[in-house]
Amino acid sequence: MSNSQKIDQRSVVIKHFSAQFGGEPVYVIRAPGRVNLIGDHTDYNDGFVMPMAIDRAIWLAVRPNNTRTVTVHSADFGDTAVFNLDALERIDSHWSEYVKGTAWALSERGYALAGWDGVVTGNIPPGAGLSSSAALEMAVAKAFALVSGFAWDGIIMPQVGQQAENGWMGANTGIMDQTISANGKAGHALLLDCRTMAMTHVRLPSDYAVVILDTGTRHQHTESGYNERREQCETAAQHFGVSHLRDVGVSELQAQADQLDKTTHKRARHVVTENARVLQAVGALLIGDIGTFGRLMNASHVSLRDDFENSMPAMDVMVALAQAHEACAGARMTGGGFGGAAVALVAAGQVEDFIRDIATAYREQTDYDAVFYVCQAAEGVGVGAG
Ligand code: GLA
Repeated sequence: MSNSQKIDQRSVVIKHFSAQFGGEPVYVIRAPGRVNLIGDHTDYNDGFVMPMAIDRAIWLAVRPNNTRTVTVHSADFGDTAVFNLDALERIDSHWSEYVKGTAWALSERGYALAGWDGVVTGNIPPGAGLSSSAALEMAVAKAFALVSGFAWDGIIMPQVGQQAENGWMGANTGIMDQTISANGKAGHALLLDCRTMAMTHVRLPSDYAVVILDTGTRHQHTESGYNERREQCETAAQHFGVSHLRDVGVSELQAQADQLDKTTHKRARHVVTENARVLQAVGALLIGDIGTFGRLMNASHVSLRDDFENSMPAMDVMVALAQAHEACAGARMTGGGFGGAAVALVAAGQVEDFIRDIATAYREQTDYDAVFYVCQAAEGVGVGAG
């Protein structure tokens, strides 16, 4: 997305704020979505991931209201939610539960919260695996930090967002999405060690574009197999007598293959090999070896599809089409899975051809229309005066 489009989103949310509440917002917050280049279902296994923040974001325009109430309007849904900070109550799976859940997680951690009026808008397609919900949580956490006067912390606030997912929404997701939304760096991917939370920003090559291929299929992690996959990983870790699969090596896993049931072994094999792939991928990126990086992406897809079994037929068609294209260095499904988007690294000069060719072939081979987003790696959550 170009810079002028970014400015657009900002003025759109300010305009909606004025229409809804009158006057101007005091803060305009932008929290990006993310795409994960490699390392899926490793975060809650204390492993390694390599996402980047994308130039698609949630925008939240906010003004303190000196009450105990939060009033938040979604410009995209044309819908307003109101809740009292002293009587947080989960109602249903309404979009505003992410706002409320973040308030709840902050309160649980002892933050004193103040009320605000806000308008939210965004251009991250929901349910595509691009972390629109994590972006909303980080925007809301930032709003509370500004309005309530507590310090922002790039490690703790992602934990707050994760707590909202786990404890309020009932999705036992990991720490990756909120961490990259909070800590993205323009032009860079992030190597994150989910055990130590050590972060290393790795520059992306300028001659390749990151293309997101939205299959048009959708998930919801409270209902998909996500929580079940996580439990299977925990069962495998217990078998090895470790807290997390991070502590199991490839050879150890192979040596004990016949002691695990087939499904548990496959889940564990994905996680253990995926951790190794992330570390190899970082090494490849650091020396500009995009061929190796792409092959690791392809291998990651096979592992997710066959061992973790969280792909879908339409997704496999999409990824196979992308991988077979001459402009593509590598492609894989990305995010939680069970539908959503794939990600591909594509030679910068051939992106238009790539998208045209894949769109046509995908429509021929599936019942879905694909949507493509050519993404730049963006900065993490940011704020400017309204
Ligand atoms: C979702 C979760 C993340 C992570 C990915 C899979 O995006 O929110 O924590 O587990 O799935 O890598």
